[in-house]
Amino acid sequence: MPYRLTVLGTGYLGATHAACMAELGFEVLGLDVDAAKIERLRRGELPIHEPGLEEILQRNLANGRLRFTTSYQEVAEFGDVHFVCVGTPQKKGEYAADVSYLDSVIDSLAPYLTRECLIVGKSTVPVGTAERLAGRLARIAGPHVELAWNPEFLREGFAVQDTLHPDRIVFGVASDRAEKILRDVYAPLGEVPTVVTDYPTAELVKSAANAFLATKISFINAMAEVCEAAHADVKQLSTALSYDERIGGRFLNPGLGFGGGCLPKDIRAFMARAGELGADQALTFLREVDAINMRRRARMVDLARELVGNSFRERTVGVLGAAFKPNSDDIRDSPALDVAVTIGQEGGRVTIYDPAALANARRMHPTLGYADSALAAARGADVVLLLTEWQEFVDLDPEELGAVVSVRNMVDGRNALDAETWRSAGWHYRALGRP
Ligand code: UDX
Repeated sequence: MPYRLTVLGTGYLGATHAACMAELGFEVLGLDVDAAKIERLRRGELPIHEPGLEEILQRNLANGRLRFTTSYQEVAEFGDVHFVCVGTPQKKGEYAADVSYLDSVIDSLAPYLTRECLIVGKSTVPVGTAERLAGRLARIAGPHVELAWNPEFLREGFAVQDTLHPDRIVFGVASDRAEKILRDVYAPLGEVPTVVTDYPTAELVKSAANAFLATKISFINAMAEVCEAAHADVKQLSTALSYDERIGGRFLNPGLGFGGGCLPKDIRAFMARAGELGADQALTFLREVDAINMRRRARMVDLARELVGNSFRERTVGVLGAAFKPNSDDIRDSPALDVAVTIGQEGGRVTIYDPAALANARRMHPTLGYADSALAAARGADVVLLLTEWQEFVDLDPEELGAVVSVRNMVDGRNALDAETWRSAGWHYRALGRP
C-alpha cells in the first residue's frame, strides 16, 4: 500500500510540496495552525503567486487526494510520512534563525504519534537542528518514530517545476529503513541524482548552496563597483566571464542584488551558526557578501539622487518593480522596495508599479504612492527607476514612456534594458556598474 503523506506548514514550501505530492498520486493531508489559510486552501485559493500551482491544488482537491486540516491528531492518525515545512525566519535583532516553529510542530505532533512513521524535515535549519529534534522526538514519542532531513531547493516562480523535476535530492538519514521510505516516496519523479548522507551534511548542503549563490551575485556586484570606479562595463565583463564553463553565466547578473525570503536570512543564519560552532572565521567572507549586496541599494539611491539634482525634495520618482524578483509577488527583503522606501524618506514623491506585488507592497508601506501601470507610475517623473526586471518593463517602449515623464532620466537597477535603444530615444540612461 502506498504511503500516506502529511505536510506540516502550508506556506510557500508546504503548499507547493503538498499539492505536488498529491499530483504524483499520493494521498496527502496538509496542516497549518493558521485556520484562515487552511480555509483558503480548501477552497482552492493560493495565498501566493506561483505559476501553475493553483491548477494542481484545485485538481487534487477535486479528485480527493489532497485535503487540509488544523488537527495534529488527525495528521498523526493519517500519515506514514510527515513532511515538516514550517518557516525559520531571522530572529529580531539577531542574525540567527528562529527555529521555534519547528520545535512547536514536533511538540504538538509527537504526543499523538502512536503508529510507526517517518518525520521528514524540509525547512532550512542551522546545522545540528535535526540531531536535536531527533532526541526530542525519541523522548516524547518513542522509538517507533524516526527523523530524516531532506532539504528543499525550490525557487519562487519555479516552485512546481523545481519540485516535480528537481536537479538533485538529498537525504540525511539515520537508518536504511528511512532511506528506503524516502526513495519510495520520490520514486515517481524518475531518475534524479540522489545524495544519501547524515543529518548535519544534509542540513549544510542547503546552507552551502544558498551561500554560494549569494556569493556569486555579490562577486559580480563587487566587480560592478570596480567597473564604476574604472569606467568599465560590468555587463560586458559578466558576458565575457560567462563563456568560461567553469564560471558559467547563471547568477552572474549584476544589479541591485539579492533579496527574498531565503538568501539574505540564510547567509546570516549560516554565519551565526558557524560562530556558535567556533568556525566563524570560515564564513567571515559572507559578511562581505551581505555588505556588498546592501551597498548596491545605497548606490542605486545615490545614482537616482544625482540625476534629479542631488536632492529628492520636490522631485517625482517613478518606480518600476516592488517584488524581490520578477514573476513573484514576494516583497520580503525586496531590494526594490528598500530603494523606494529610502527615497520616500529622503523626501521624494515615489509612485510604484509592479505587475504582481502591488497589494503586498501597499499593505506594508501604505504611505508610498502606487499606480496600476508602468506608464501611470512614470507620469510626471523626474527620474524612472527599473528595480525588478519584469518582462513587461524590459519590453517598454522608450518613446511611449518618454511621452509621459517630465524628464527622460532612467536608472536601470537590473541591467535589463538596452542602453543604446534608450539613449537614442533621448533618455539619459544610467545603470549600476556601467559607464
Ligand atoms: C533561492 C534559491 O535559489 C533556492 O534554491 C532556495 O531554495 C531559496 O532561495 P529564491 O529566493 O526563490 O530562491 O530566489 P532566486 O531566484 O534564487 O533569486 C534570489 C535573488 O537574487 C533575487 O532577488 C534576484 O533578483 C537576485 N539575483 C539572482 C541577482 O541579483 N542576480 C542574479 O544573477 C541572480
